[in-house]
Amino acid sequence: MLVLVVYASKHGATGEIAERVAQTMAAAGQQAQARPVTAAGDLTGYDAFVVGSAVYMGHWQKEATEFVRRNCAVLAGRPVWLFSSGPLGTEPVDAQGRDLTVAAEPKELAEFTGAIHPRGHRVFFGVLDPGRLGLGERAIRKLPAGRALLPEGDFRDWAQIEAWARVIARDPALGIEGADGSARTADRQHDARL
Ligand SMILES: Cc1cc2nc3c(=O)[nH]c(=O)nc-3n(C[C@H](O)[C@H](O)[C@H](O)COP(=O)(O)O)c2cc1C
Repeated sequence: MLVLVVYASKHGATGEIAERVAQTMAAAGQQAQARPVTAAGDLTGYDAFVVGSAVYMGHWQKEATEFVRRNCAVLAGRPVWLFSSGPLGTEPVDAQGRDLTVAAEPKELAEFTGAIHPRGHRVFFGVLDPGRLGLGERAIRKLPAGRALLPEGDFRDWAQIEAWARVIARDPALGIEGADGSARTADRQHDARL
């Protein structure tokens, strides 16, 4: 089984999460490669997918959304997991008391859930490095509300990210070697039906 971890990342934080997911899966015995969505290439050689994007203004990055829409048929027929990288800060809830990982769910999630039935979606805290921001982003941070919403720092929880990658690597849909060496592979059963 070969898993493609594809991502859209504006300033690099989401790409590093995707790389860590692929490395952790590989360390757990599951072949995985990480690539930007723009360099995903031919998908036919992959058995499963992890698709991730940074969240900006409540939305996945355009190229990630387009990747899912363009490859909807392939993704719907394979095990898929989604992740979003977004919330910033050390607080788990926002000023209204809402769980930040729920508040940061991208607007596209309902569409993706209906179209490709992902086996899971996770929101991971992200990074804000003022030195990497563009002019428009800096202008937003100069507003009082913007500064409060966009604190500087690296808030990624690597232990949480790695734990999620290990859960995926062990998912029965990717085939688990049984004690007798037999592979239980939902996807092979799926392929056999085609
Ligand atoms: C202008 C701006 C808008 C943002 N909007 C959101 C948002 O709506 N929701 C969210 O959870 N994070 C938001 N973020 C935080 C980013 O998603 C976070 O910094 C992420 O880790 C960036 O990933 P990247 O480095 O891969 O681009 C925003 C950041 C900036 C600079």
